[in-house]
Amino acid sequence: MTAGRSAPALAVVGATGAVGSVLLRIVSQRADVWGAIRLIASPRSAGRRSAVRGEETEVLALTEDAFDGLGKGDVAVFLTPEHVSARWAPVVTARGSTVVDASPAFRTDPGVPLVVPEINPQAALLRPHGIVAGPDPVTLSMIVAVGALHSAYGLTDLQLSTYQAASGAGRAGTEALRRQLSLVTGAELGEQPGDVRRAVGADPGPFPAPLALNVVPWTGGPDQDGWSAEELRIRAETRKVLGLDTLPVSVTCVRVPVITGHSMTVRARFRDEISRAGAHEVLATAPGVVLVDDPAAGEFPTPADAAGTDPAWVGRVRRSLDDPRALEFFVCADNLRTGAALNTAQIAELLAAEQASG
Ligand SMILES: NC(=O)c1ccc[n+]([C@@H]2O[C@H](COP(=O)([O-])OP(=O)(O)OC[C@H]3O[C@@H](n4cnc5c(N)ncnc54)[C@H](OP(=O)(O)O)[C@@H]3O)[C@@H](O)[C@H]2O)c1
Repeated sequence: MTAGRSAPALAVVGATGAVGSVLLRIVSQRADVWGAIRLIASPRSAGRRSAVRGEETEVLALTEDAFDGLGKGDVAVFLTPEHVSARWAPVVTARGSTVVDASPAFRTDPGVPLVVPEINPQAALLRPHGIVAGPDPVTLSMIVAVGALHSAYGLTDLQLSTYQAASGAGRAGTEALRRQLSLVTGAELGEQPGDVRRAVGADPGPFPAPLALNVVPWTGGPDQDGWSAEELRIRAETRKVLGLDTLPVSVTCVRVPVITGHSMTVRARFRDEISRAGAHEVLATAPGVVLVDDPAAGEFPTPADAAGTDPAWVGRVRRSLDDPRALEFFVCADNLRTGAALNTAQIAELLAAEQASG
């Protein structure tokens, strides 16, 4: 932070992306936290203007010069592809500024805290490399509910199946689903083998199969033995955030034709017996959670309700029929906002507050 400035500067790298656009809206509502805000993206976006705090601000290309003037106490948030974060975060930390990264680049690095402010805010204080990471949107969506239940009942096992939105694959994902939906709308589809594939054409965008009128049981890159990299990441991140290094975690990631809002079914097993009423009591007061659970009255959350909102929405809470220690429930949250931009903004604000308190 340069002398004479009372508030730290903020650099938003990836300001033009799906998460970046949401983050600009969030920081625009926090007028008193940041000094100067600079917007950075790829050279493709250089010179474009984006609104932040009501001002049209020019987007800079990501170069060394884009960080000129940034120093100790200032913060750069990275909302960029993994390889971009991996390459450029060290450039920022070399200047003494702190990085908050939303990409997978540093999440499992033992020298980088993985932070969810509702669960482990103190972890952000110890950051030997000057980098703090935020988890995958699936981890972020369920961890506030699972973390609160863990505090009360002691988590011993976790199983998830996800229903992930197209925007989880960034702007390219949203654009691909919109294009595919326009190609399939009005066509007589679903009766002949392969007719959705034919309507969508040879290019399904960032997805491994057509997403319109379909469900795709795969997200992210391949890893090992049939698991996707995202499935293994969610497992490792959940263990890291909760501080449960050997917790059994099993995840199946599925992409569904929703624009915004990741959903998941959760089966969590605990050390102690759990009841539906007891789980309700914990979830009703858990920070970052909204409980909507009266299915007989048609009340349960859907991703369409969660889109554009801050909390993780929880419903369909049931004790497992065959195991009094296990709970089944449904969670959905805005993957761009709850699952990335809000967490990143909250961590950056923790760092700004730490700076202000000396
Ligand atoms: N989407 C989600 O639900 C979600 C949730 C949690 C975390 N994340 C993570 O957040 C990050 C951003 O995701 P997103 O969905 O916002 O992606 P996106 O829509 O594709 O946006 C990517 C951003 O990074 C910039 N960028 C791309 N290549 C660059 C380069 N070579 N140099 C400088 N800037 C570059 C883009 O700039 P241009 O506009 O100039 O191309 C854009 O601003 C990813 O690491 C993702 O894993 C995403």
